[in-house]
Amino acid sequence: MNTIKLTSDFEISRIVHGHWRLADWNLNNQELLRLTQQCIELGVTTFDHADIYGNYNCEKLFGDALELKPSIRKDIQLITKCGIKLTSDKFPERTLNHYDYSYNHIISSVENSLKNFKTDYIDVLLLHRPSPFFNPEEVAKAFSFLKKSGKVLHFGVSNFTPQQFETLAAYTDEKLVTNQVEVSPLCLEHFDNGNMDYFLQKNIKPMAWSPLAGGQLLNPSTEKEQRVFNTLTNIANELHINSIDKLIYSWLLMHPTAIIPVVGSSKIERIKNAVDALNIEMSLEQWFQIYTASTGVGVP
Ligand SMILES: NC(=O)c1ccc[n+]([C@@H]2O[C@H](COP(=O)([O-])OP(=O)(O)OC[C@H]3O[C@@H](n4cnc5c(N)ncnc54)[C@H](OP(=O)(O)O)[C@@H]3O)[C@@H](O)[C@H]2O)c1
Repeated sequence: MNTIKLTSDFEISRIVHGHWRLADWNLNNQELLRLTQQCIELGVTTFDHADIYGNYNCEKLFGDALELKPSIRKDIQLITKCGIKLTSDKFPERTLNHYDYSYNHIISSVENSLKNFKTDYIDVLLLHRPSPFFNPEEVAKAFSFLKKSGKVLHFGVSNFTPQQFETLAAYTDEKLVTNQVEVSPLCLEHFDNGNMDYFLQKNIKPMAWSPLAGGQLLNPSTEKEQRVFNTLTNIANELHINSIDKLIYSWLLMHPTAIIPVVGSSKIERIKNAVDALNIEMSLEQWFQIYTASTGVGVP
């Protein structure tokens, strides 16, 4: 079982399965339970959600599947997020998308997630996005209540800059165990904005969302995507690897920050490719070939 420690006494699987697109997979409860069991057999035991996924439906879809075999709960780790308020038929009073990190909203969002998953604890709660209207004191108060009540075991953030991370960390007693950010050979932003250095400095293990750039890397349409695709194809041939998604996961996994890919595929063979990537070794030069294929220029 390949796991990674987020704190000295808390670990998750090295590969996380993401459920953002779950409502589009059209799986019945039994099929979703089967997919989940297959993930667990592969060692993928951590599942990433957010309250808003699938127009606020994905958490419940997963909870309904888990209800068929409640004993699974102890074998998995549930990540969910809060803080984004979307306009939705579920909330007809809302007039625009916005963020809400008030004490009351954080607590009610978690209560709702617990109800959806039919569980009494969330393993990791992430603040989904930084907000221009952010009150870290309120957040700290909510974290403290959720921790004391046992409803949330660990806390983290998503899409935060180092500065935003530090600001929250200065207010809360809870360790922020991760920052889930977009990273793929098409999205190098966090190598440039100080986040990767910050993760190393603080020994924070980041999670990478959209590791295949939402599938774009496999179906290139722009010049940049084609350039990266060609480079990945060449390296895959050199290493005798039969699918380039494995190479992309390997490119993330080998980074010194120990990036944790959040795999978004609905297909167990493709999830297995991410697990197989744990055994791929590419050279540093091959890593940089992929990096520079994306930037379009060699390093200075
Ligand atoms: N924190 C945040 O702000 C944030 C934002 C976005 C996402 N996330 C998290 O990250 C997870 C992953 O994001 P993502 O779904 O965009 O990840 P992704 O793995 O980059 O993309 C998944 C998509 O790529 C397709 N795909 C996979 N392999 C393929 C192949 N060989 N050929 C063609 N298409 C292929 C999948 O289709 P199939 O299902 O057919 O394989 C799926 O539609 C989400 O589920 C969510 O948990 C977080």
